[in-house]
Amino acid sequence: MSSEFPQGRAKHSAPPLSGHHGHHRDSAHDEALADLLDLDAAVLGSWQDEAITWLEPFLPATPQRILDVGAGTGNGSLALARHFPTAQLTAVDRSPVMLERLQRTFAADGLEGRVNTVQADVDEGWPQPQDAHLVWAASFLHEVADPDRVIRRIGSGLAAGGVLLVVEMETLPRFLPNDVGLGRPGLEERCIAKLTGIGWNSHPDWRAPLERAGLEVVGQRSFPSAAHPDRAAGARWAQAWLRRVREVLDGQLDAGDLTTLDQLLAGNDPGSALHRDLSIRAGRTAWAARRP
Ligand SMILES: C[S@@+](CC[C@H](N)C(=O)[O-])C[C@H]1O[C@@H](n2cnc3c(N)ncnc32)[C@H](O)[C@@H]1O
Repeated sequence: MSSEFPQGRAKHSAPPLSGHHGHHRDSAHDEALADLLDLDAAVLGSWQDEAITWLEPFLPATPQRILDVGAGTGNGSLALARHFPTAQLTAVDRSPVMLERLQRTFAADGLEGRVNTVQADVDEGWPQPQDAHLVWAASFLHEVADPDRVIRRIGSGLAAGGVLLVVEMETLPRFLPNDVGLGRPGLEERCIAKLTGIGWNSHPDWRAPLERAGLEVVGQRSFPSAAHPDRAAGARWAQAWLRRVREVLDGQLDAGDLTTLDQLLAGNDPGSALHRDLSIRAGRTAWAARRP
């Protein structure tokens, strides 16, 4: 999933579903990230409903005001809107591309009246949340320049007993066989080693930052992703993921591995590794933190 980073962002590094540091953000880049986010939700998004069901007992009452921060194309917002039919949602993202898509998705579901969008960069100032009952921050917090400040701001905007749910990818996804039948075996592990080296999916255990902000961590859980059984959808997801990996690792992998990635990506051949039954291993970690 591929977006961009705030200029000068220092502490946490490159988001796997996002972009890399220091590049100018453009809408084509955000469109590519938006496609990947939607594919990810379609293929690996079962964790969202599970996480909502898991967090519900931590809430003092059915939430009426929900904030989705770093909402992207709104997959989390939509799951929340469906689960809590009386709630009003606010979706915050710095990217207009994302927010336009989110609005289209809500409209297609007849839910346009349920969500307000706010385009804001949380590193530069954004409207203070007001008495939110639930704040959802998925694959987002590791992207901000000063997560402590953002968590404090969210925390002080929670209603008493309100919950902040932070979600991150547990590991980078794995789905290729060791030998894809092209080039040297071990391509995926070499890609993961390089991506880890440049900070993809680099996030701390969020418990301490949440507690520093005065929130009480009431739950932490892992949600393994059950990949969608639709083989074509899995292949589309794999293509989009590897396209992003190929772009980011250009010049970092040896020429043989880059050629193998190109061959995989060019392969409309049904025998291509990306069209076989992919067993996608991925998952999310969630932290639920309550304002006392
Ligand atoms: C990896 S995506 C996750 C989107 C969504 N939460 C999901 O789980 O599908 C991260 C999102 O955070 C947004 N984002 C990153 N840094 C931001 C910032 N400083 N302020 C506002 N939005 C930001 C990006 O535009 C992107 O849409």
